[in-house]
Amino acid sequence: MSVLETRYLGLDLRSPLVASPSPATGKLDTLMRLDDAGIGAVVLPSLFEEEVEAETMTFAERMQEGAGVSGEAADYFPDVDLDHLGLDRHVRLVEEAVARLEAPVIASVNGRSAGGWVEYARILQDAGARAIELNMYDLAVDPDRSSAQVEEGYLALVRQVRAAVEVPVAVKLSPYFSSLANFARSAVLAGADGLVLFNRFYQPDVDLETLDVTPRLELSHPGEVRLPLRWIAILRPQLPGASLALTSGVASGEDLAKGLLAGADVVMTAAELLRRGPERAGDLLASLQEWMDAEEYLSVDQLRGSLAQHAVSDPGAFERAQYHRVLSSWRR
Ligand SMILES: Cc1cc2nc3c(=O)[nH]c(=O)nc-3n(C[C@H](O)[C@H](O)[C@H](O)COP(=O)(O)O)c2cc1C
Repeated sequence: MSVLETRYLGLDLRSPLVASPSPATGKLDTLMRLDDAGIGAVVLPSLFEEEVEAETMTFAERMQEGAGVSGEAADYFPDVDLDHLGLDRHVRLVEEAVARLEAPVIASVNGRSAGGWVEYARILQDAGARAIELNMYDLAVDPDRSSAQVEEGYLALVRQVRAAVEVPVAVKLSPYFSSLANFARSAVLAGADGLVLFNRFYQPDVDLETLDVTPRLELSHPGEVRLPLRWIAILRPQLPGASLALTSGVASGEDLAKGLLAGADVVMTAAELLRRGPERAGDLLASLQEWMDAEEYLSVDQLRGSLAQHAVSDPGAFERAQYHRVLSSWRR
C-alpha cells in the first residue's frame, strides 16, 4: 500500500487531505468524525475581528439596557474583560480540538486592524493551535490606494504576525493579483511558511423585490479546482521551500491526486464535507490510495509535483499556448 504521509508547514501529517475552514470544522463533533476518517489536519473557522467586536458591543449594550431598568442592574453582571469576550468560543474550540484530535489543529484569523491580526494569532497559538492561517479576505475598493500599497499592507501583516508567533504561519490568498507569482514570493520572503491557494470570494446578489444587495453563498463546483491547480503547478518550482495547499473545488480522490501531482503538499476541502458529511474524507482518501496503488506510486512524496509542467522552463509561454489551444478546440 502506498504511503499517504506528508509534511505541511513543518508538521507531519498522516494524510494529505486537510479540512478547510467551514462549519464542518466549527464543532467538536464533526471535527472528531473528520479525525476518525483519517483527515491529515483541520483548519478551524476564521476568527473574525468584526465578530469579536460585535459580540463585545452586544454585551456592552445589554449592560447599558440593564442599567436603565435598575440602578443596581450592572451589579448583576459578572466582572468580565470585555475585550476578550468574543474570543472565548474560539479559544475553547481550539483547546478542545487539540485535546481530542489526533490530527494537528490549525487556527485561522481574519483581522481588520493590524493589532487584531497579531493579538488573535497569538491567543490562538497559546490555546494550542499548531499553525496559524491568515485568511486575507479583503476587497480593495479605494481608488486612492495602488495595488503596490494594498500588497504592502498584506505583507506588513505577514511580517507582524510572523514576528508575534512561534508556530508556522500560512497565508490564504485570493487569485486576484496582477502578478500573483511576485506576490506569492514576497509573502514567503515576508515570513509565510506556506500559501493556501485560493480563497473563494462570495459574490452578493440583487433582490429584485426589495432592491437590496443580498448575501448569497453557493458551494463550489468540482471544475473550480482547475484554477488553483494551475497556480500550484506554476508556483511549486518557484517556491521550493514553502508549503503549498490547494483549496477550491476538491470533490473526489482524483482531485486530490491532481493537486498532489501539481505540487501541493496538502489538498483542502470544505464544500464536499458540507455536502456529504465528514465521513466523505475517508472516501476521498481511499480513492486516492486506490489510484496510487494502481499507478504504482509508493508515496505522496514520490507523487508530488511530478506533473509535466515542471519541465517547462517558461510557464507563461506554456499557458499562452494552452489558452490558444483551448479556444480553438471549441466545437458546436
Ligand atoms: C460555509 C462556509 C464557511 C467558510 N468559512 C471560512 C472561514 O471561516 N475561513 C476561511 O478561510 N475560509 C472559509 N471558507 C472557505 C473554505 O475554507 C474554502 O477555502 C472554500 O470553500 C473553497 O473550498 P471548497 O471548494 O472545498 O469549498 C468557508 C466556506 C464555506 C462554504
